[in-house]
Amino acid sequence: MEAGHAAQNVYLQAVSLDLGTFVIGAFIDDKVKEIVNAEEQEEPLYIMPVGRID
Ligand SMILES: Cc1cc2nc3c(=O)[nH]c(=O)nc-3n(C[C@H](O)[C@H](O)[C@H](O)COP(=O)(O)O)c2cc1C
Repeated sequence: MEAGHAAQNVYLQAVSLDLGTFVIGAFIDDKVKEIVNAEEQEEPLYIMPVGRID
């Protein structure tokens, strides 16, 4: 639920900045942890790319 609430704020902020975003929940957790240098106890829940919509 907390991730959902945080994601909603990213959506709202993206719209206010005239940008686009969406939620990705299906990814290889261990690979994402490696890429973002996550601590052992940190687990990725969402990925939200943000960018310009042309
Ligand atoms: C919790 C959640 C997880 C999602 N995970 C994925 C995902 O892993 N891959 C994906 O393509 N879309 C995922 N979606 C959907 C996208 O966020 C987005 O709504 C969708 O790709 C929009 O596609 P469209 O613009 O073609 O309608 C997820 C949506 C939610 C709410």
